[in-house]
This record gives sequence, structure tokens and C-alpha cells, in this order.
Amino acid sequence: MVTIQVGKKKIQGARGSNLRETLLAAGVPLDSPCGGRGSCGKCKVRVLGEVDPPSIAERELLDSGLKLGLRLACRVTIRGPLAVELLSSAEESAPSEEVISRDMQLGAAVDIGTTTLAGYLVDLPSGSVLATASRLNPQASYGADVISRLAYAQEGGSQDLTEAVRRGVADLLVDLAGSLGQIRKLVLVGNSAMHHLWWGIETSSLAQAPYRPASTQPISEPASTLGLSLHPEAQVYFLPLVAGFVGADTVAALLATGLDEGHARRLLVDIGTNGEMVLAANGKLLTCAAAAGPALEGAEISCGMRGIQGAIEAVNLDDGINYKVIGDVEPLGICGSGLVDLLSELLRVGAVDHTGRLLGQAEFLAQGGAAKLASNLLEDGFQVAVGPQGPIVLTGRDVRKLQLAKGAIRAGCEILLSAGGIAYQELDEIILAGAFGSYLSPKSALRVGLLPPVELERIKSAGNAAGEGGKLVLVGDQQKKRAEEIARKLEYIELAGRGDFQERFMEGMLFD
Ligand code: FES
Repeated sequence: MVTIQVGKKKIQGARGSNLRETLLAAGVPLDSPCGGRGSCGKCKVRVLGEVDPPSIAERELLDSGLKLGLRLACRVTIRGPLAVELLSSAEESAPSEEVISRDMQLGAAVDIGTTTLAGYLVDLPSGSVLATASRLNPQASYGADVISRLAYAQEGGSQDLTEAVRRGVADLLVDLAGSLGQIRKLVLVGNSAMHHLWWGIETSSLAQAPYRPASTQPISEPASTLGLSLHPEAQVYFLPLVAGFVGADTVAALLATGLDEGHARRLLVDIGTNGEMVLAANGKLLTCAAAAGPALEGAEISCGMRGIQGAIEAVNLDDGINYKVIGDVEPLGICGSGLVDLLSELLRVGAVDHTGRLLGQAEFLAQGGAAKLASNLLEDGFQVAVGPQGPIVLTGRDVRKLQLAKGAIRAGCEILLSAGGIAYQELDEIILAGAFGSYLSPKSALRVGLLPPVELERIKSAGNAAGEGGKLVLVGDQQKKRAEEIARKLEYIELAGRGDFQERFMEGMLFD
């Protein structure tokens, strides 16, 4: 065994073993959407010490980064003691400063997102939130999205996925409360795949058409049966599901936003790795899910990254290139909100046409484009910045991926409106929810056509509505009943079987 220094932490690894696997086994968070195949480039770390020379995949993906000591953890074989610096992928949650006394009765609500676990620690008698924290879902090392996780489960990996998510939630609870013994209630929300994998329910019906959950019922179990050492009487409750791609997170988001109450015509759009939409209109609650893919969250985009330190989160091309980086550090890549902003700005200045084609330098100038921006139009895309890891470029291929994603979301919105018998002009409000939706600039979302063209003032952000809904259920039994009622009332519209989906999807891909 050799010692590996990871930040302030020391872990042990075997000579000849793989660095990514060693880091994950030691609980070090590491993005690896391709599951360690050496194709996504997201498991980048800086390595100092005894390792094998770079592989071909690393030479291709890292290029000049190799000189700076960058390596792909999944391609590195440990040969001796090492120091590893985690780059953009590492995420530590911030523990609470609040004092937790021994006699407090605690509860926790966790939103099990495909990418991130978001948790709240609550003082049960008062309902006040004592701490919040988030962590990478450890299942991410088996694949970036729901589809690849389900595929892994089909290949016999269900137990790995169940263990990973339970371990991740337990670690998150320790981040929140310091220990587990005082937690008397745990409420969970998440999509249908996360729900099944959490409970260890067979996922094959979710993995193939018509993509139905094995069960949509709410489930409650003693924590002890799940191997969680919470308070001896603690119960774990997972909100009900609606359909294969409309899960407990959507039910919780509805609960938190009160979308089902009153007479307003409202559309909730939750953009995560998948897009779920709900329309409340004329006494009905209609829902659908669109396979947007992970592009809007920065995955599968050449310089894309999650919304963490180092990510460009906002772009403005008014007077040259201006951007804002999370944490005010040098830029490492672009996250979802930055990508939508950038695309929106490129459309506005005429560097991307209505079909999504990036113009060449000469063509852009001939059409009156600003000279300041023209020099950033390279052969392989638009260069936004140069960071310590090299140029940050949005390529034509990236634009296509973003178009596919926004086309799917927009088509889902249009189909709900038509099924609800209303025009977009009649919408009182569009609520953006989800990890990505909350940070998205409504103005940019409208300009790229991700949302129906309502007035800007009608778009509201709901933050992590799913987590908020989980919190409500944690402190109120009445809310639990309401959540179950919402799940029963939601009418699910399957997009895959509809003749008009393809047409609306093609229209939705274009820009106005
Ligand atoms: S390149 Fe994808 S995990 Fe290493």
C-alpha cells in the first residue's frame, strides 16, 4: 500500500491499482460521467508522484494540460506515493455553524438528484432548518445520467447503485448533523430511477418501453432495515411517483409551489438531467417528461462543467466578452446557465443563425458583426475565454446538443399547453425549478426559445422546489396527504407515443 495525499486528507492505495477507483472507494467525490472509460475528460486531477506515463486518451483530451501535471484519474495507475489535487469536480458541503444539542429531535429531507444530493436538517418540533448541505451523488461514477445508471443496473450493477446512494445520503446526513443517532425521520424525494435504486426495487421496467415504474406508491420503512444507523425508531419515507420519468421530485415541487391550488394557469418547468413539466389549468394537472439529455447541465459539452467554482455562469457580449465565474476565480469551463447565456448572446449579436449554425469570421463581419467579437470566432467554435487549462470554446457541435435539449423541453411545454386547451399568452406564470432552472437567466431562456414566449415578468424561479416539498412533508402529516393526493391527481402525458412530438421538437430546435 502507498499513501495518497488528497488535499488535507491522506488515503491508502494499492500499487498497480486505478487512481479513480481508489479515490471513489475512499469516498473522495469525483465526477466521472463516462464511468471511467476515458472518454468524458471530467475526472481530471493534478498528480504529483509515481504513476504510469499518460495514455493516448489523456494525450488527446488533456493536450497542454499534461505539462501542468493534469491527468485523467480513470487512466492513471498508481505506482508509488502520490499527491493528488482535485480540480473542478470536487465538492465539499458546508456544515452548519448551528449548535445541535443532544436532546433535540431532528429530521432530515434529502432531494436525491441524479447529479447532486441536497439535504436539509430540521428541528422537528419547531420546523426550523438547522443546516443545509449538498454532495455529489456517488452513483455519478457509474454514469452521468439516468439512462446509463439503468443500463448499469441491467448489467447486474443494481446493488452497487443502491449501496452508493445509501452511502451518499448517510455521508450527507453526517455532514448535516455530525452524527446520525438523533435523526428520527428521513424524507426523500427524487426521480423514479433514484426511488427504485434507493429501495432496491427492480428497475428493468424503467429501462425499457413503455418505461413504467414497478410501483408508484409512497414507501415508508424503518431506517434500521436499510442499514442506516439513525435513531432506533426512525422511519424513512419516499414520496410517491407518477410515471417512469415523473417522479417524487416533481410531486414535491408541486407541493412546495402550490401549483395545484387556486385558479391561476401556471406552468412548472423543472430542468435537470431530464426535463419535467406540469401545467395547472382549468382544474387539471397535466404532466410530461422530455429527454433533454445532460447538455443543459454542462455534460457532453466540450468545455461544459457543473455549476461549481470555476464555471462561467453568465455571459454578456455587449462590449467585447464579459463573463462571470463562480467563486471569482479563473475560468475552467462553462456551466448550464452560462451556456444558455452564451448561446442567447451569440444569437443576439448574429454569430449564430436561426438554424443554430455558427458563422465563420468573414461571414460574421460581412453581416455587420462586431470586429471585437469576430476574432473569437475560430475554426472550431467561439472562444469565450482562456483559462489555466486552455481555451474555453463553444463548438458548433455543442450548439447542436443545446438545440436538441431545448427543442425537447420546448416541445414538452407546447404539448402540455395544447392538451390543456390554452395558448401560451393565457399563462399567468412560468415557474423555473430544479438545479439548473433556478440559476438560468429567464431572459436568455426566452431568447433561445427554451420556454414559450411569455412576458419576462411572468417567469419566476422557485429554487430547489423538490427539496422544499420534502421539507414540508417532514414537518407536517397534512402535507404528506396532500403530496399523495397530488400524485393521484396528476395526469401523465407520454410524449414518445405522440405523432405531434417530433414535429414540435423540430420546430423547438430552431431559433426565432
Ligand atoms: S474520462 Fe470519464 S471518468 Fe475519466
